[in-house]
Amino acid sequence: MAPHGGNRLAVARRLGCRPDQLLEASASLVPFGPPASVRRSLRRTLAGSAIRDYPDRDQQELRQAIAQRHGLEAAMVLPGNGAAELFTWAGRDAARAGVSLLPLPGFADYQRALACWQGAWRPLALPLRWSGPFPQPFPAPTGADLAAAAIWITNPHNPTGQLWSRESLEPLLERFALVIVDEAFLPLVPGGEAESLLPWVGRCPGLVVIRSLTKLAAIPGLRLGYALADPTRLARWAAWRDPWPVNGLATAAGVALMADRAWDQRVQRWLAREGPWLAAELAQLPGLVPMASAANFLLVRGERAGQPCCLNGLRLALEQRHRILVRDCRSFAGLGESWLRLAVLDRRGNRRLLGALAQELGG
Ligand SMILES: Cc1ncc(COP(=O)(O)O)c(C=O)c1O
Repeated sequence: MAPHGGNRLAVARRLGCRPDQLLEASASLVPFGPPASVRRSLRRTLAGSAIRDYPDRDQQELRQAIAQRHGLEAAMVLPGNGAAELFTWAGRDAARAGVSLLPLPGFADYQRALACWQGAWRPLALPLRWSGPFPQPFPAPTGADLAAAAIWITNPHNPTGQLWSRESLEPLLERFALVIVDEAFLPLVPGGEAESLLPWVGRCPGLVVIRSLTKLAAIPGLRLGYALADPTRLARWAAWRDPWPVNGLATAAGVALMADRAWDQRVQRWLAREGPWLAAELAQLPGLVPMASAANFLLVRGERAGQPCCLNGLRLALEQRHRILVRDCRSFAGLGESWLRLAVLDRRGNRRLLGALAQELGG
């Protein structure tokens, strides 16, 4: 199976270059992060005793900061070692509830989480042709799919970048015993918060919203995400996990980021400017069809004379000749070799990516 994106260190080793010589367009992180507020807080934390002390087991300060940001109670918040850790516990609940419905192509980590608990799942095939504008309705499950107990939603969807409307997701809360909504990329999307299911947390015990700070703050190495859900569910998860899943540095970074509202606005302004610009430039290149996306990544389809064409050679040429990493889509069920996912970068990075693509495609 093709790997997850964001393997800069491993690729640099393979290519015999320094990691900072590689342009990272496979993992879809904010290209100008981490924010100054996070860097400052990390420096302060290192100078203090946070790594000499065990982290607070209750994560009170961080839970409070997250709760305040979202207008919820601290008991409805559970920070985790990245969103990935929290999927593991969501997977345990989903496996116990019954069969899960997984929209595909989709993020493969939900399957890993379910497999930990022998959780059964069935695919909900998403149409592979779509256009904007966003938000748009989530394709409602019908027939036998409605017999599933749980559904895993990604909003905006990875890898397609589609932003689902809150209005189209709300009926799922009545139809499924458990609705897990991964909003890892939502805070980056201009206007995205309006489509969040967060207002239903506290009113709907079968809802779990999971967020990640990895993409928003460009801190994949710190590992920090959080779940927002019914306090009883979260207390159960807290009793299952190991005692200190979130370390002192990640905790400090999270507290700083939650207070830094200007960061989200800066990120959204960048994406509103750079996303449409990159898509328009990509559309000029021969053999690539950029799909509409509300997120900070774009799925592109290889197409020549109306027929799908393989983009594997292009991906390898970008890596080996241009030192640019883009997301191999072979690990996304239903996609395969004629698709690539490109992260939106800053203007300089986008120009480097476009230049390399033009050179390889003859655009
Ligand atoms: C949709 C989605 N959710 C969650 C994650 C993982 O986030 P974290 O780094 O917080 O574990 C990813 C990472 O690629 C992702 O694509």
